[in-house]
Amino acid sequence: MSCKIALFSSGSGSNAENIINYFSESSDFQFHVIISNKFDAYVHRRAKKLQIPSFTFLREDFSDGEKILEFLKKIETDYIVLAGFLLKIPLKIINAYPKKIINIHPALLPKFGGKGMYGSRIHQAVAEAGEIESGITIHYVNEYYDEGNIIFQAKCPISVTDNAETIAEKVHALEYEHFPKVIENIWGNY
Ligand code: GRF
Repeated sequence: MSCKIALFSSGSGSNAENIINYFSESSDFQFHVIISNKFDAYVHRRAKKLQIPSFTFLREDFSDGEKILEFLKKIETDYIVLAGFLLKIPLKIINAYPKKIINIHPALLPKFGGKGMYGSRIHQAVAEAGEIESGITIHYVNEYYDEGNIIFQAKCPISVTDNAETIAEKVHALEYEHFPKVIENIWGNY
């Protein structure tokens, strides 16, 4: 039996696409839906190309979570993967999916995390702080931004010539390499 995973994405969705492609032949994992909070997010175009249904829920749906939870239950989602998803996950959903929701953060938590730390702002902050390394953190999701237990981290070096853009490129490369494998490892024995 395969486990059904919902991908949440607010933007481009390159991680979502990479994950779906990685598991395209898998009989253990089925990425059965993409959920966004933006109608015009590029991830919907990727979903269409990949023939995965995608849906948009409104910001207010994400403040309470009831409607989304009902939907997830109806389509029998087992796990949730946040791949570039910007809104906080409502407590109702967190409680319904204990240790079954993970997020990827494009920096080495606990540094450069928390409210307001998203997208290029993170890489900008890393560059301005003169860090010599950055990386990715994959963690469980709890009710606080970026504070759930860490599952996996990978690092990349940063040189003085790097800027937010080049750091983002290095971090994306790490995401594409590791995120699908981490999903496989933690839920592979479903
Ligand atoms: C990724 O760097 C992810 O870690 C962060 O937002 C970015 C999303 O990129 N949370 P994409 O939408 O997967 O292309």
